[in-house]
Amino acid sequence: MVSILQSRIIEWETVEYGPNERNITGWGLWMSERSRKLVVEGGEKVVDFNIKAFKPAPAQGIDDALESMRAGMMFRYQPKTLEESHVSMFEKEFAEHLGSRYAVAVNSCGSAMFIAMNIAGVVPGDKVLSNAFTFTAVPSAIHHARAHPVFVESTDEWGLDVEDLEKKVIESGAKVLLMSYMRGHVPDMDAVMEVVERHGLFFIEDCAHAYMTSWDGTPLGRFGQIACFSTQSSKGLSSGEGGILTTDVQEYAAKAILYAGSYEERWNRHHDMDAEMMIRLQNEIPGYSMRMTEVTGALLRPQIPRLHEVHAIHKSNYRHLEKLLEGHPNILVPKPLSKAEYYCDTMQFHLQGLSREDADRFIELMSMEGIGMQIFGVDRNARDFREWHYLGGDEVVELPRTVQNIEFACDLSLQPHLGTSHMDVIASVMFDVLDYINNG
Ligand SMILES: Cc1ncc(COP(=O)(O)O)c(C=O)c1O
Repeated sequence: MVSILQSRIIEWETVEYGPNERNITGWGLWMSERSRKLVVEGGEKVVDFNIKAFKPAPAQGIDDALESMRAGMMFRYQPKTLEESHVSMFEKEFAEHLGSRYAVAVNSCGSAMFIAMNIAGVVPGDKVLSNAFTFTAVPSAIHHARAHPVFVESTDEWGLDVEDLEKKVIESGAKVLLMSYMRGHVPDMDAVMEVVERHGLFFIEDCAHAYMTSWDGTPLGRFGQIACFSTQSSKGLSSGEGGILTTDVQEYAAKAILYAGSYEERWNRHHDMDAEMMIRLQNEIPGYSMRMTEVTGALLRPQIPRLHEVHAIHKSNYRHLEKLLEGHPNILVPKPLSKAEYYCDTMQFHLQGLSREDADRFIELMSMEGIGMQIFGVDRNARDFREWHYLGGDEVVELPRTVQNIEFACDLSLQPHLGTSHMDVIASVMFDVLDYINNG
């Protein structure tokens, strides 16, 4: 099936349009006739790939992880030297990859964010500025610190709304910003940094979705005092669970090591730590047992050098699909700001011109076809701030722009086992499903 669809795409690429015609891209071919019966009509499924599969660990990582397990060396501080410890070496290699001075590996990005807020001096009852559009792990980390989120609106391109940020800074008096690059979307970082500097905010970047992503050539994760990455399986680096905290400030790194659960003199299994500082801080900081295991470190190390290759696959797939979808009346893929470079491991698009019922039907029919996706703003989605009841109501204020931006926003995972021929199939199925809904 892929090859038939592929040939239709090639055919389309050679079609020439007259001067008065719209710059029709991919969907122009498909709109004329539906290529087949949908599954809901009793047709055959054409999707023969698993869109939800996550990246396998590299062979080297599997070998090293097995070796750690066989040797009984699973605890982060068991290896006696920096070089023998996968986690120590992963920290060093990740810091080099990002260009930060320090990296501290932990057991999740949620833990990294919790630790970062402790380092920022957040105490129970404090207010922390954050995106209204993010994943529930972010307000949960704020809740974990017994602080209260102050939610900032989003733009229709899903980045933080900088005007609203400044308004909320002034209204709330909050001194800490925990900002997510949700699904890798990047706001105007020049404007964000102006607000951060003007108000002396402690800036924590949530880079869970922002591997290989940059603003004007500077990698995300290099803007704040601290950045937090996730290595949960859907992320750029994938190890089931895991997280990384990066910083240029030695004292922040020292505190992160201790908060994560280093005790006695085990900090000497981290690179470049000042012994005097560690001895001074050692018993001032509680250890929250948020360490990364050696097995996780082993799985992650060989994934750092492959990030460039994976990024190239993501970009090629994303651009191919974006081109196919361009111009369809029901689909809007917002363009990133010109200084932003995206990782492109997922695609978000707004469904437009459809009723709520039809949009929900689109998701249902796509799932029947084997292309699972979600709409952020419906169905008890964990990225819909109205669902975060644990916050107790006070924080869940009116955020009309965010509601508008998530209500018809679809989220498609594009993992690197997929190629451009799979993008052809995805686009074709989307067009057929929309055609069915529109003419149903
Ligand atoms: C935007 C965002 N931030 C933070 C996290 C938390 O990551 P972890 O699962 O590693 O705690 C997630 C998890 O998916 C996320 O989507």
